[in-house]
Amino acid sequence: MCVLETERLILRPPRPTDITAMTVWLGDYDVAKMTSRIPHPYSEDDAEAFLADGIIGTYFFVIQRKADGLFMGGTGLHPAEGYEFGYWLGKPFWGFGYATEAAYRLVRYAFEELGQQAVRASWFHDNPASGHVLAKLGARHNGSKMRESRARKAPVLCHEMLLTRAQFLRKEAA
Ligand SMILES: CC(C)(COP(=O)(O)OP(=O)(O)OC[C@H]1O[C@@H](n2cnc3c(N)ncnc32)[C@H](O)[C@@H]1OP(=O)(O)O)[C@@H](O)C(=O)NCCC(=O)NCCS
Repeated sequence: MCVLETERLILRPPRPTDITAMTVWLGDYDVAKMTSRIPHPYSEDDAEAFLADGIIGTYFFVIQRKADGLFMGGTGLHPAEGYEFGYWLGKPFWGFGYATEAAYRLVRYAFEELGQQAVRASWFHDNPASGHVLAKLGARHNGSKMRESRARKAPVLCHEMLLTRAQFLRKEAA
């Protein structure tokens, strides 16, 4: 798998030495509860199992800050789920535009290097920051449904988004 770059970030394949940081950031309930698949509490075994999964691991990138090499979070595509993409950051890194920067690069990778014509994403109704990230990329609402959150151990209203290559290119050109 390749390494992707943006102005401030390196998106790279995970390494065994990432397990500790991954466990710390994903162990925060405020992070896990906004995702569907991350359990709470989150252990090093969970991180290891995630990284050992061949399909998920193939398209998962660590979000690393160029300035100091810090592991800040992760972003990935799920090919078995219609190229659904997702992203998360440790709480200290929220609010600096990193998620938008990382997701933008990931999506460009899906369109340009993987040849996809559309990618999907979703956000829980109480996570407007994520909805905002997706809107900034050009994604459009494509229905809503209840979706299980493993961390909350409950179904949560989830907005599904679709981002076509054409929408993305229009947004990029704007
Ligand atoms: C969602 C998450 C990835 C956002 O990361 P981030 O780096 O802070 O996001 P960005 O700074 O790139 O963009 C967030 C945007 O939402 C806006 N925003 C933040 N909180 C908001 C709120 N409560 N209501 C509306 N907009 C909000 C920000 O102002 C920003 O928009 P702007 O650039 O126009 O100012 C981060 O909060 C996170 O990891 N949360 C936990 C895991 C998660 O939610 N993952 C996504 C699952 S769908």
